[in-house]
Amino acid sequence: MPSTISRPSSILILGGTRFVGRTLVEAALADDHQVTLFHRGQTNPGLFGAAETVLGDRTRDLSALAGRRFDLVVDVAGYDPPVVRRALDALRGRVGRYVYVSSLSVLADQSTPQNEDGDLLELDDDTAPEKLYGARKAACERLVRDAFGARALIVRPGMIVGPHDPTDRFAYWPRRFARGGRILLPGDPADLAQFIDVRDLAGWILRSATSGVGGVFNVTGRPLAFGAFFDACQAHAGAPATTVWASSERLIAAGVNPWMGIPLWIAAPGCEAINEVDVSRATAAGLTIRPLAQTLADTLAWDTARGGPAQGHEGLGEQEERRLLRELVD
Ligand SMILES: NC(=O)c1ccc[n+]([C@@H]2O[C@H](COP(=O)([O-])OP(=O)(O)OC[C@H]3O[C@@H](n4cnc5c(N)ncnc54)[C@H](OP(=O)(O)O)[C@@H]3O)[C@@H](O)[C@H]2O)c1
Repeated sequence: MPSTISRPSSILILGGTRFVGRTLVEAALADDHQVTLFHRGQTNPGLFGAAETVLGDRTRDLSALAGRRFDLVVDVAGYDPPVVRRALDALRGRVGRYVYVSSLSVLADQSTPQNEDGDLLELDDDTAPEKLYGARKAACERLVRDAFGARALIVRPGMIVGPHDPTDRFAYWPRRFARGGRILLPGDPADLAQFIDVRDLAGWILRSATSGVGGVFNVTGRPLAFGAFFDACQAHAGAPATTVWASSERLIAAGVNPWMGIPLWIAAPGCEAINEVDVSRATAAGLTIRPLAQTLADTLAWDTARGGPAQGHEGLGEQEERRLLRELVD
């Protein structure tokens, strides 16, 4: 198969109906590509009338794709090496280029700033449970690179935010500021956050893959100080609010989980530089990041339209925030 691909391209998305895949499908359709989705039909079935849908469970059987040829495959939702290998085996020889959506969680060391050359986690019997996700993704990356070589594009996103995010990590903040009142802010104004709007991620993947970019890329936004982030939330909300900072030490002492017990805040040991990842390679390859105000506005609009998160799934419940304010500040 040729290593550069025709436009419009035939694109197979493994997944495609929840968050990252869904946004990729939207971008690919808007760009007039011919899009095929492969999924089980459980998550948002029938979402895209303009795309072909092939139904199947990739953990067991991809025979519905037998004989099909695609310019490009994007494996958005591959988590397990045997499952990723099964797709590679099923499509081998009939695909031009292959994109694997990995994660920055593959990095073995997140205590110091990393670029794409940092060591990766190893998957073996001794892999700690909290490292399994990253170690499995790292093993999947190796399979895709072994199978497709220079025709593979490995994308390592950091935290992905924006409309349709199934977690309540980012949406919590614009929603919380829109409510106003006394707002508990975690850590220190100089602490860093790092994230990417799903639409910037999807746009970059599509542009890069269809123009023949291969290799490994960290794909996330630039580090942003918590202080600046919360100022932007406040400016967007415009509701009367008093912000109150509580240090990481005090939050941990009060029993808050240092791994995002408060949305975006990460104070877990070993994660000191998790939000200082070098993205210069992706930037040089055309990654652009939309203004934060737009991500905040669109995320809040989406969150409001869905009626907020399900009960019990709020990033930080109102009661818990009140308890922390009482115990740590009053
Ligand atoms: N969120 C973050 O901050 C973050 C950060 C770094 C990396 N990532 C990576 O980004 C990706 C996010 O994925 P997403 O959920 O947003 O992707 P998505 O493609 O929008 O949604 C997941 C898709 O997988 C399909 N699927 C699930 N199980 C399947 C099966 N057994 N067989 C066939 N299809 C199946 C689902 O449909 P059905 O249920 O209908 O099958 C759905 O279409 C992941 O690879 C994750 O590791 C995320």
